[in-house]
Amino acid sequence: MYVLCLVTQKGGSGKSTLAVGIAVAALGNGERVAIVEADPQGTILKRKEPRGHPHP
Ligand SMILES: Nc1ncnc2c1ncn2[C@@H]1O[C@H](COP(=O)(O)OP(=O)(O)OP(=O)(O)O)[C@@H](O)[C@H]1O
Ligand SMILES: [Mg+2]
Repeated sequence: MYVLCLVTQKGGSGKSTLAVGIAVAALGNGERVAIVEADPQGTILKRKEPRGHPHP
């Protein structure tokens, strides 16, 4: 199992966005992916844009 950490002190620099991008790329590569979001902002949870892709 790979655990990727996207870390920077700067807020709003794209960490959550990049996490979703990497997750989608991994899914496309046949990997099983889980994103565990601990941030109460819920940036990833709130992403509901239709992707036109069979994966959630
Ligand atoms: N490569 C990019 N190009 C343009 N806008 C981007 C890019 N990556 C992220 N954004 C936008 O920047 C904003 C902040 O992105 P994001 O929420 O991913 O940052 P974050 O580092 O996770 O923030 P936080 O520190 O609050 O958790 C969002 O509006 C997102 O859509
Ligand atoms: Mg974030």
